[in-house]
Amino acid sequence: MRRSRLFCSLLLVAATGLSTAGAQSAAADRGSPSARHAKPIALDQVIPAPASVKPGKDPYTIGGRTQIRVPGASGEVRRVAGYLADLLRPSTGYPLPVTGKDGRDGIVLRLGGKDTKALGAEGYRLTSTRHAVTITAARPAGLFHGVQTLRQLLPPSVEKRSKQHSPWKVAGGTISDTPRYGYRGGMIDVSRHFFTVDQLKRYIDQLALYKYNKLHLHLTDDQGWRLQINSWPRLASYGGSTQVGGGPGGYYTKAQYREILRYAASRYMEVIPEIDTPGHTQAALASYAKLNCNNIAPPIYTGVEVGFSSLCVPKKVTYEFLDDVFREVAALTPGPYLHIGGDEAHSTSHADYVTFMNKVQPLVTKYKKKVIGWHQLTAVTPAKGAAVQYWGYDKTPAKEREQVAAAARKGAGLILSPADRSYLDMKYTKDTKLGKAWAGYVEVQRSYDWDPATYLKGAPQKSIMGVEAPIWTETLSTNQHLDYMTFPRMPGIAELGWSPRSTHDWNTYKHRLASQAPRWEAMGFDYYRSPQVPWRK
Ligand code: ACM
Repeated sequence: MRRSRLFCSLLLVAATGLSTAGAQSAAADRGSPSARHAKPIALDQVIPAPASVKPGKDPYTIGGRTQIRVPGASGEVRRVAGYLADLLRPSTGYPLPVTGKDGRDGIVLRLGGKDTKALGAEGYRLTSTRHAVTITAARPAGLFHGVQTLRQLLPPSVEKRSKQHSPWKVAGGTISDTPRYGYRGGMIDVSRHFFTVDQLKRYIDQLALYKYNKLHLHLTDDQGWRLQINSWPRLASYGGSTQVGGGPGGYYTKAQYREILRYAASRYMEVIPEIDTPGHTQAALASYAKLNCNNIAPPIYTGVEVGFSSLCVPKKVTYEFLDDVFREVAALTPGPYLHIGGDEAHSTSHADYVTFMNKVQPLVTKYKKKVIGWHQLTAVTPAKGAAVQYWGYDKTPAKEREQVAAAARKGAGLILSPADRSYLDMKYTKDTKLGKAWAGYVEVQRSYDWDPATYLKGAPQKSIMGVEAPIWTETLSTNQHLDYMTFPRMPGIAELGWSPRSTHDWNTYKHRLASQAPRWEAMGFDYYRSPQVPWRK
């Protein structure tokens, strides 16, 4: 049983008195004389670490006459420029007009052109001179990631939403940057506690800051079904009506879900919806009696146990139900993947699990989507093009790891989210009030210090799609809870997914990480003040 059997008192959680973002900021934040003469942030201080950095001479200074140039650009590049202008205008107080006119000065976003091919779908080059900062990319996603880099090269007070006094200097030189892996995911469990569209947008923005490009939404579980399904309306209206601890819960209408997709896409993030099956299904079973083998709907569930529910494998209606659900979810989903869960099916016999998955995977491929499943899916042959998400930890038996590696050798893609490294809901130490500890305590260094390439013995390199940082929410119900568990670990998983292995070094990373804190403070994000990180006083 991987989750604690103890009910974690929400009252206790509410009473923890988590430290709030402190008042201490880097000198650069305050426009003090020392800040005005401060050296600009070095190009190699960014998280995730850029693939290549060549320092130059003079910095570029953003000023009252700076324009954001998008020479001859499409609407999409203009939109990225508008996003950058919206970021920079409040704190700089400068007008920063976006113009289609070419020129040698200002902030220039340039799409395509010779020698951009090597930058691929997401890479960018940022060149800073006395006259201009130029971000070049082959694709708009690359420009967007380059904009995230530019943000981190400016003083932390750039993130404030009111006018600040600071020299807005960008160190001179060139960054050429492409990701190590194409899959860099964040997952949020909106079932155990429901999070509103605005809360998800906030989380998307936090992920985008560190160049994540997937948002995996854990939409269904025992405690709540969070997406409107027209053909089975009680899933959301009844199955989504509560949450852990008995609060009101909620669900996304299709219009709201499309808004989440639109917002994620504007941050170059693909949404991967998860409908967890055959276990973790009490919300569905409670909504429709006919989905139960005994035709009796169980009560709706607000506790934190796992592994007690199962869809009825022998019943035909189970597959009619899933066909309807996957049809509607596939129709909503622009990306290639649907996640079908498959974890902790402790109330489904092995034989039933095999029968079930062999019937359910074709329901996904029928709607032209590819399957993702938690790594238990490797108990059967994953469908063609499927990916499995490994969530084991140090105590996972070698036989189970080998089963996953063998599936990868046979062609399954592999997403790595080891629970004792990348699960953001694991407690940092025994004193962490929030979160769980079934995979152990996960301090910041432990979360950062592993290599996706070698983590799962026997898995071929080409199978490794990337990494994911899930946040499960049995004990988390507010933005502040999410922030405290997300920061400072989430940037480290981003770096594992983006940066070349040659840049990996805890002893330098911990200083770069410490420099992020004034940014989080400027944005109002709480974080865990790990003693492993040399935070600036
Ligand atoms: C999981 O943590 N049950 C995937």
